Amino acid sequence: MILVTGAKGMLGTDLCAELSAQHQVTGVDLGDFDLAHKEAVEAIADLNPQLVVHCAAMTNVDGCETDPDRAYLVNGLGTRHAALACQKLDIPMLYISTDFVFDGTKREPYYEWDSPNPLGHYGRSKLAGETEVRSLLNKYYIVRTSWLYGPNGKNFVASILIKAGETGQVKVVDDQTGSPTYTRDLCNALSLLIQSNLYGTYHLSNSGSCNWYQFAKTAMEYAGIKAEISPIKSHEYPTPTKRPVYSVLNNFAWNKEFKTPLRHWEEGLKDYIRETIHVQC
Ligand SMILES: NC(=O)c1ccc[n+]([C@@H]2O[C@H](COP(=O)([O-])OP(=O)(O)OC[C@H]3O[C@@H](n4cnc5c(N)ncnc54)[C@H](OP(=O)(O)O)[C@@H]3O)[C@@H](O)[C@H]2O)c1
Repeated sequence: MILVTGAKGMLGTDLCAELSAQHQVTGVDLGDFDLAHKEAVEAIADLNPQLVVHCAAMTNVDGCETDPDRAYLVNGLGTRHAALACQKLDIPMLYISTDFVFDGTKREPYYEWDSPNPLGHYGRSKLAGETEVRSLLNKYYIVRTSWLYGPNGKNFVASILIKAGETGQVKVVDDQTGSPTYTRDLCNALSLLIQSNLYGTYHLSNSGSCNWYQFAKTAMEYAGIKAEISPIKSHEYPTPTKRPVYSVLNNFAWNKEFKTPLRHWEEGLKDYIRETIHVQC
C-alpha cells in the first residue's frame, strides 16, 4: 500500500487518482492527523505502508512568512515525522519539494546539485524537510517542482481566469520567471519514478519557461477570455515574501534516467483548460 499525505490537496488529489490505477493507495490529510505532532510517526507506522509519498505542507508562501513557527512545524518537523515512520518501517519515502529552495540569482536552469539558498521561510522550511529526509533515510526520492496548477485546488491560472472574466482587466508581474507545471503531468512522472528504485534528488517541471505575465496571457488566450492584461513589476504588487526572480529547474537527472522529457508547459496548460473549463484550445 502507498500512503499519500496531503491527499486532499491540489497535488495529493491527482496523485491518489493516478497511483490508484496500479496500486492500493491510502490518502491521509489534516483531518486524520496533524503531521506536526510526534504522534504522527506512530499513526503512519500503524498504517504499515510500503512507500510514503509526502505531499502535505504549509503551502501558503506569504502565510509562512508571517507565521514561520507554523511553517517549520509543518514543513520541517512534519517531514521529520513522516521520515521517522519510514525509517521505522524501513521503507522508501518520496518528498515533494520546491523551486523556492533557490535564490533565483542564476540565469540558466537550476541543476539538482546547485546550492540552495532560499529567500523566505516557505523555502527554508521546505529545505529543512529535505535535510530531514536525507539525514534519516537511505531510500528516498526528493522531487523539486514549480508553479503547480491543477483541477483540484486554488491556483494561479484559475484565479487569473476568474478575475479576468469578472473585472475585464488584470495586472500581472513580468519579472519572475519559472516553469508552470500541470499536476497531472507531474503525477505521471512520479508514478514512473516510484517504480524505478532510482533514489535521489530530481527536478520535475514541465519543459520551457515564462514569466507570470506570459503565463496569464497564454491561459487567457486558451480560455478565450478577452480581457485587458498589463505587465507590472514585483514592487508594484508587494507581498510579505521575497520571491526568486528566476527559478527554472533543469530536469537533468530525470531526462538522463528516464529519457522522456516532460512536455512543454503550454501543452499542459491547454489540457488543463480543456479539461477544467471545457473550451476548445
Ligand atoms: N503549489 C505549488 O505551486 C507548489 C510548487 C512547488 C512545490 N509544491 C509542493 O507540492 C506539495 C503539494 O502542494 P499543493 O499545492 O498540492 O498543496 P495544497 O493544495 O496546499 O495541499 C497540501 C495539503 O496538506 C495538508 N496539510 C497542511 N498541513 C498539514 C499538517 N500539519 N498535517 C497534515 N496535513 C497537512 C493541507 O490541508 P489544509 O488544506 O487543511 O491545510 C492540504 O490538504 C507541497 O509539498 C508543496 O510544498 C507546491
